[in-house]
Amino acid sequence: MATTGIEAPGRAQIGAKTLRTDRYWVEPFLTFLALTAFVVYSAWRVFSNKYYFYEPYISVYYSPCLSDSCVPGAGFGNTPISFWKMSPALLTAWIPLAFRFTCYYYRKAYYRAFWMSPPACAVAEPHGKYTGERRLPLVLNNVHRYAFYLGLVLNVILTYDAILAFRDHEGNWGHVGAGTVILTVNAACLWLYSLSCHSCRNAVGGRITHFSKHPVRYQMWTVISKLNTHHMRWAWVSLCTVVLADFWVYLLASGTVTGSWV
Ligand code: FES
Repeated sequence: MATTGIEAPGRAQIGAKTLRTDRYWVEPFLTFLALTAFVVYSAWRVFSNKYYFYEPYISVYYSPCLSDSCVPGAGFGNTPISFWKMSPALLTAWIPLAFRFTCYYYRKAYYRAFWMSPPACAVAEPHGKYTGERRLPLVLNNVHRYAFYLGLVLNVILTYDAILAFRDHEGNWGHVGAGTVILTVNAACLWLYSLSCHSCRNAVGGRITHFSKHPVRYQMWTVISKLNTHHMRWAWVSLCTVVLADFWVYLLASGTVTGSWV
């Protein structure tokens, strides 16, 4: 007899997979479609190695552009990574990927949508046993707190990119185009996503016995706790702004969209 799962002793023996009659499958199905579309789009852009820079805008997937092979204006000139001939996005895109893939919210979302483990509350999962996140590969999700710190570094860089988007082609400050707005909104959404992270909340307010002895951390923890309640929202909003920010640069760099307002 199984010791875990729906067959375990002590569990009600109900033949049906679920007694729910609502359309509980809609949310995981939409999640499946959205995350699949994001992964396919991101893979296409990361491996395409073109149309990622249009002065003064750079794609979020290619920043910082660390390879010597970066298009003029996007990179730093000669770098120690001169041997790298593949797409420069491959050097950095793994950071936000690791951050999102190990995110507590996304874990819930893709466990439900892709592995149906379980697909929804009060719906039996199709798997016979449950091993949690104690084994490879899912045990790697425990690196989330480290991915969080790396993600913060990337946020600083993308914020810097958004600031540079206020310069025109000749380097004069005061330029505001559609790309400036998109990159700025994207940077703000990425900060809200990162600051509402559970690891951020723990880093700021965790391991404190007496909040009264740490008033500053307590205030920060209070603010982050409020953001944290909306973490799912910022996860999706920032996912959309990342795609929008990249796609806008693609449209400009490929010549699909032109004009003085871009
Ligand atoms: S829990 Fe979602 S980013 Fe940390």
